[in-house]
Parts: sequence; structure tokens; C-alpha cells
Amino acid sequence: MSTALITGGTAGLGAAFARYFASAGYDLILVARGVERLDRFGAELAQQYSVTVSSTAADLTTDEGCSAVIELLDGVDVLVNNAGIGLGKGFSAAGLEAEERLLNLNVRSVLRLSHEAFKHMRRRGRGTIINVSSVAGFGPTMPGSTYNASKAWVTSFSESIGLLGRSENVRVMALCPGFVRTEFHSSANIPTSDIPGWMWLNADSVVESGMRDLRRGKLISVPSVKYKFIVSAIRHMPLGALGRITTRLAAISARGQIR
Ligand SMILES: NC(=O)c1ccc[n+]([C@@H]2O[C@H](COP(=O)([O-])OP(=O)(O)OC[C@H]3O[C@@H](n4cnc5c(N)ncnc54)[C@H](OP(=O)(O)O)[C@@H]3O)[C@@H](O)[C@H]2O)c1
Repeated sequence: MSTALITGGTAGLGAAFARYFASAGYDLILVARGVERLDRFGAELAQQYSVTVSSTAADLTTDEGCSAVIELLDGVDVLVNNAGIGLGKGFSAAGLEAEERLLNLNVRSVLRLSHEAFKHMRRRGRGTIINVSSVAGFGPTMPGSTYNASKAWVTSFSESIGLLGRSENVRVMALCPGFVRTEFHSSANIPTSDIPGWMWLNADSVVESGMRDLRRGKLISVPSVKYKFIVSAIRHMPLGALGRITTRLAAISARGQIR
């Protein structure tokens, strides 16, 4: 039986990954901070899909949390580095401590867990690492947000390690969704009322689309045609124009004028 370890596996995209792999017959190791939800969701999945689900309560912003999860990675077939946060406030307003917490989770935990998993997978000659990034990693779409930079790192890191992994039968892919309906925005007090309905994606569809891209050997997956188009525009637009557009949109949004 194969095993998938999913960080942030109790909500949003992580829960969708958990459902996906459980339905494919994988045993699961779920990681999150909330013990009660880990136990409840794990029991639900075990019953529904007849797989073994174990859970580890760990805060991946901390060294201890990362170390506890690293201990579990030998023998894992799929690692999904999914846990990630945004900050509801822009640079300097959020505070340095919050910025460092974001970097610790969005970047440092991804580096540490990937480093350990890649080593074991390379030795075994097989394995998969999926790093959940974001379309935000393709450019400065949110003036004053360091979240974009953290996701730019995740995408670039995954692409680079993915190229190395190809010769070792270890697949590495960055999954880069746009807006997905999850707890992400409410947890960070990020207002969403200005985001038009058409921009929202469904977590299960994002995961299915990402898994199709993984099977095709892609290093970067951008689910949905509309976000492929948006990413292409972000990548090819002159930086000056992109900066002017995103700054203006942020200003309009702050004044609550988009409906
Ligand atoms: N939602 C979007 O619009 C969107 C778009 C693009 C990319 N993403 C990315 O997708 C990933 C998943 O986001 P989501 O939207 O599914 O978020 P979510 O619904 O808020 O779920 C976050 C999950 O991560 C866990 N978690 C949070 N902080 C943690 C920590 N310090 N240590 C361990 N686990 C932690 C949470 O459980 P506990 O609170 O119990 O720890 C929960 O299981 C993130 O990397 C995010 O950046 C999201």
C-alpha cells in the first residue's frame, strides 16, 4: 500500500488532496495543528475509503514541528507540501514576526520537508512531491504583499528540483491555483467581497486538474483556462504596466468600489 503525507490536510486544498489520495487507495498521514479536526477528518476518511489514516499535530512554522514531520518521511510515496498562509495586512503593517511566520511555513517548511523526502525517494528510485504554490508567485499582483515572493520561491524551487528529479524517477511539481474557496482568506482576515464570482475555483477540481498535469509530467500546473490566460498575461506584460494595474486595482479595492 502506498502512503501520501499531506501538510495542512484537514481543510481546503489539503483536505481535497486527502480525499483524492484516499479514493485512490493510499494510506494517509495528515499534518495540521488542530488535533480535534485531524482526528475527526482522519476517522471520516478511514471509514469512507477503507484506508489507514494517521495524523500528526505539528506547527510547521516551528523547528520542532518540522522535525516531527521529517521523522515520518522515510517510506512516504507522495509528499504534498500544502500548508501555507497569507497575511491580511501589507508590508510593515503586518509586523516582522508575522512575516517571518509566513516565510517559515510557506518557504522554510517546504524546503526542509522536500529536502528529506527527496533524499529517501531518490534512494528508492521513486516518489512524488507536490508543492502547493499560487498564481500569485508569477508576479507582484498584490502590492505590499510578501506572500507573492514566498510563492515565487515555491514555484521556482519546485521547477528546479523537478528537473533534477526527472533523471531519478522522482516527480516534483508546483501546483499554482488562483482563488480557491477555502478557509485561507477568512483565517488571514483577507476580505473577499471584491473578488468576482468567476475567479473562484473549487478545491477538488483544482486537485484533479493538478494530478492530471502531474501525470503528463508537468513541472508547473496552473488549473483552469482562465488562470492559464491570467498567468500568461502576468508573465508577458511589461513590469511597469503590471505594477500600474495592480496598484490601481488595490487602491480601488481598498475604497470598496469593485462590486
Ligand atoms: N485558497 C486560495 O485561494 C489559494 C490560492 C492559491 C494558493 N493557495 C495555497 O494553497 C495552500 C492551502 O491553502 P488553503 O486555501 O487550502 O488553506 P486553508 O483552507 O486555510 O487550510 C490550511 C490548512 O493548513 C493547516 N495549517 C495552517 N497553518 C499551519 C501550520 N502553521 N502548521 C501546520 N499546518 C497548518 C490548517 O490546519 P490548522 O489550522 O489546524 O493547522 C489547514 O489544514 C496554501 O499553501 C495556500 O497558499 C490557496
